[in-house]
Amino acid sequence: MASSTSAASNSPVLILSLSIFLIFPPGSFASSKWKIPQPDVDLLEFPLNLEFLEAEFFLWGSLGYGLDSIAPELTGNGPAPIGVKYAKLSHPVRDVVAQFAFQEVGHLRAIKNTVPGFPRPLLNLSSESFATVINSAFGRTLWPPFDPYANDINYLIASYVIPYVGLTGYVGANPNLESPSAKKLVAGLLGVESGQDAVIRALLFERAYVMVKPYGITVAEFTDRISYLRNQLGHAGVKDEGLVVRASEGPEGRISGNVLAGDKNSLAFGRTPEEILRIVYGSGNENKTGGFYPKGADGRIAKSHLE
Ligand SMILES: *[C@@H]1O[C@H](CO)[C@@H](O)[C@H](O)[C@H]1NC(C)=O
Ligand SMILES: *[C@@H]1O[C@H](CO)[C@@H](O)[C@H](O)[C@H]1NC(C)=O
Repeated sequence: MASSTSAASNSPVLILSLSIFLIFPPGSFASSKWKIPQPDVDLLEFPLNLEFLEAEFFLWGSLGYGLDSIAPELTGNGPAPIGVKYAKLSHPVRDVVAQFAFQEVGHLRAIKNTVPGFPRPLLNLSSESFATVINSAFGRTLWPPFDPYANDINYLIASYVIPYVGLTGYVGANPNLESPSAKKLVAGLLGVESGQDAVIRALLFERAYVMVKPYGITVAEFTDRISYLRNQLGHAGVKDEGLVVRASEGPEGRISGNVLAGDKNSLAFGRTPEEILRIVYGSGNENKTGGFYPKGADGRIAKSHLE
């Protein structure tokens, strides 16, 4: 005991790490180590809400277990998600979703290595929660209720709902960031989130005219309705487009296939945190929680809209 203590205290590495620890006590360490200003911290913490949702949805969907098994240290002991399930997927789709799932674990770690963050918020990922979004999108109650976990097509449609919103948030946050380390992190997150969105859209695009059973509605119409709903909830104009649009709305106004969404110069749309909250709460109002976040999202920006 005594000899191992003296051996350890002779170690320059240990002395160095102890002195770093004294200069930056836990808590202040994460953000002060990069000298990230508070507005950047707020903008980097906000997307944790979406990354937690994506991580749980993709982990459970592909593997049948979530962050509590894979990376419990990232949950901050936040409550377990409600109603999330193992999905009935073909091998290739399951494999892609598992890759997304592990990518989200990395994203959570990268954000938490940069800013203090917060515990996993309560997430409602039940079939009913997705069915509610789909019913709102169609303005009527589909019967039987839409089940995101039932098969490849339903799961991909449910996935269409999520990474795209995260991606518009990163595009929206970027011009408001001050510090190079925050910009670097957001660029890295944006690159992979937009890649996920592209893969999901490409898999759906191949099936654009397949009828979603038993509704007799095409995949293309599902995406169109979901995008229209998000535009309505966001209250900020058109920032969302389905897989097949009027040619006047496609790339350069010349083609109706729309495998990626973009503005008139095919640049990605950006959304503010408030627009995102209106969408993910399903309420059209950043001060009215619900949807995937029964108790609301966490972090300074989301909390500032709640009492
Ligand atoms: C989850 O969402 C469904 C559909 O909106 C709702 O019926 C259910 O009460 C929600 N669960 C919780 C705990 O909020
Ligand atoms: C929520 O915001 C709306 C405007 O978007 C406002 O009219 C309403 O009073 C707010 N409600 C609360 C509880 O703050």
